[in-house]
Amino acid sequence: MPLVIAVDGPAAAGKGTLARRLAAALGLPYLDTGLLYRATGRRVLGHGADPRDPAAAEAAARGLTPADLARADLRGPEADMAASAVAAIPVVRTALLDWQRDFGRRHGAVLDGRDIGTVVFPEAPVKLFVTASPEERARRRFLELRARGAAADPAQVLAELQARDEQDSRRAVAPLVPAADAAVLDTTALDAEAAFAAAMAVITERL
Ligand code: C5P
Repeated sequence: MPLVIAVDGPAAAGKGTLARRLAAALGLPYLDTGLLYRATGRRVLGHGADPRDPAAAEAAARGLTPADLARADLRGPEADMAASAVAAIPVVRTALLDWQRDFGRRHGAVLDGRDIGTVVFPEAPVKLFVTASPEERARRRFLELRARGAAADPAQVLAELQARDEQDSRRAVAPLVPAADAAVLDTTALDAEAAFAAAMAVITERL
């Protein structure tokens, strides 16, 4: 099988930035799997349904199109919580599993998410679990929101991030947890460059 690198971790830990850089450096396709859950949540909201409703959420996941993944409204607190709600529904995860596996198997890939190393590609030779303190992650998310011109309150950003992590960690299916063989990368004191260097060191060691 072509090379698959799993990058998992909690919200706003820097997974996306890191995974994108790794993919570019290694010449691999990149997949942000959170987008699949975000787009599913958005479709459910668009139909006026509840993201916790399994039938509505499964239909939305099965009907995803490339246009859904390119929507401009997939970021922000409402999309965050709708994504986390649909992601806790087993039939939604099943509906999205083959698509993610097919993507990775085709040419190899760097995938970021919550369950790549535990469920989607448990056989991946390199698994990174990227994390940072809740305060640092909230600070990064706050700056990101502000850069996009969105109104944000730092205390509320931290509270929402912790609520989402808790929901993602406590769910029965594919909870947010490091794979037993994942290298844990704490980026609290690392900038993007240092995180990339640390990740490349793990990859070189494992391959
Ligand atoms: O990574 P991101 O914050 O965009 O993911 C949004 C939500 O999608 C997460 O809070 C989580 O509930 C869900 N997710 C998941 N499994 C993945 C990727 C994302 O459950 N592999």
